Amino acid sequence: MSKKINLFAILVLALMVMFTVSCEGPAGEDGAAGAAGANGTDGVDGVDGNVSCLTCHTQDNMDSVNGLFALSGHSAGNYVGYAGGRGSCARCHSSEGFMDYLAGYGGENIAYPSAWSCGTCHGNHGSLEEGISAPLQTSAAVTMIEDGTVVDFGSASNLCANCHQSRRGYAYYEAIDSVWTDDVNGNDSLDFVVPDGSVYINSSHAGPHHGPQTNTLKGMSGYGASSEGTHTSVGCVSCHMGDATATEGGHSFVPNLENCTVACHSTVTDIAAYLTEKQDAVSVRLTAIADALVTAGALAEEDGEYHPHVGVVTEDEFKAFWNYMVVYEDHSHGVHNPGYFNTLLTGAEFNLGLD
Ligand code: HEC
Ligand code: HEC
Ligand code: HEC
Ligand code: HEC
Ligand code: HEC
Repeated sequence: MSKKINLFAILVLALMVMFTVSCEGPAGEDGAAGAAGANGTDGVDGVDGNVSCLTCHTQDNMDSVNGLFALSGHSAGNYVGYAGGRGSCARCHSSEGFMDYLAGYGGENIAYPSAWSCGTCHGNHGSLEEGISAPLQTSAAVTMIEDGTVVDFGSASNLCANCHQSRRGYAYYEAIDSVWTDDVNGNDSLDFVVPDGSVYINSSHAGPHHGPQTNTLKGMSGYGASSEGTHTSVGCVSCHMGDATATEGGHSFVPNLENCTVACHSTVTDIAAYLTEKQDAVSVRLTAIADALVTAGALAEEDGEYHPHVGVVTEDEFKAFWNYMVVYEDHSHGVHNPGYFNTLLTGAEFNLGLD
């Protein structure tokens, strides 16, 4: 009996020891992870949302562009009524004429021509992918009317070059060797022969009509050779449309002189005075040349304004006349290409015996 009790006691004891002392062993180590699957193809990047569109399309920015544009000659279109509908003038003098020209037509008369608006220069975005820029009707290289040279600023300035170029070179005038008029019967009758060594100025509008800025920037159109000026690489847009104030730069097309000092002329302290000084020096030379051309019969003076005068002049006088007209019609008073203008003015002074 006591043996049974003892065995029972030992069993109870053993169970108690087992339940109090024993515990779970540590967990085994994790097995090795399976190999990762291959990466999927990246999705196409989306256009950055509003941010890039709103660089331009905020109401504030568009209001500012509209305000500046309203100040510009393009917006006024002073000569649209006079020249905007006429076949040979319309490509440069009205919005419709320019559209026609870009579409490959030429010389159409336009019944209701209008001035430049946003759509004259801007089309619609070809794409809204990254790097969106203002859509332009054209920024292709331009074939010059005067002699077929192809000019390429490699920038939006090509747009301007379509219109701001001479539409007639000196070769046209050099080629006039006789002058004829219709008689009452509709037959041509010979007025006179232009003598050798002379040139006939056949119109009071003679010259590299009326905005030869692309030619002058490229050192073309006058008598006298020159390399391209430093300003050529700048193109029209950086100078005429750079950062804007309330009245200058941007779509006013009036150069904001601040941009000259920021971008290049950093050592000039008073850029307006600097510009005036340079322009005045050119104007003084132009006036002296103009007075000598009046004496030669190539220009006529009326109320302090000089106009081409119809008549026969010597070749030297014609060359001086032509160089004068190129510098004058450029309308920057020497800014666009100082080195080239100096060559043209020096040549004119020499031909008129002014130097
Ligand atoms: C660098 C400036 C610029 C940026 C950036 C820009 N745009 Fe434009 N967008 C213009 C100009 C300039 C026009 C032509 C305006 C005109 O003719 O009135 C235009 C025209 C448009 C037109 C046609 C409007 C009309 O009245 O015909 C639409 C639509 C348009 N943009 C949408 C967008 C969207 C969407 C984005 C962004 C993904 C964008 N634009 C980014 C400058 C910009
Ligand atoms: C479709 C032809 C055409 C295009 C394109 C054109 N212009 Fe003009 N621009 C003219 C004509 C014509 C005038 C004279 C406007 C008038 O008063 O009727 C003029 C006037 C100007 C003036 C005189 C100042 C003023 O506002 O009165 C400046 C400066 C000028 N343009 C710069 C430019 C620049 C820079 C570009 C390119 C961004 C350009 N133009 C594109 C034809 C054009
Ligand atoms: C190749 C482009 C082009 C053609 C073609 C053209 N013009 Fe112009 N014209 C201009 C530009 C650009 C100006 C503005 C120049 C400036 O402000 O410097 C201008 C200015 C004028 C002016 C103002 C003159 C002045 O002294 O300010 C008159 C007037 C004019 N043009 C009439 C005509 C007539 C008429 C025809 C057709 C027989 C014609 N244009 C053909 C580009 C052209
Ligand atoms: C004579 C041509 C011409 C006309 C007219 C014109 N633009 Fe522009 N515009 C340009 C050129 C050139 C640029 C600069 C493009 C570049 O540098 O790539 C430009 C740039 C712009 C830009 C982007 C830069 C900025 O200033 O925010 C906007 C927006 C714009 N134009 C809107 C307009 C609107 C709106 C109108 C009508 C009120 C208009 N433009 C009329 C030639 C023109
Ligand atoms: C280096 C800067 C610069 C470049 C590049 C430039 N211009 Fe000018 N432009 C000027 C300055 C400065 C004036 C003189 C403004 C003044 O006298 O108030 C001027 C004058 C003009 C004028 C006469 C403005 C008027 O009120 O009669 C026209 C038109 C013109 N530029 C068009 C152009 C065209 C088109 C191009 C490109 C083929 C061009 N410019 C390139 C700075 C520049």
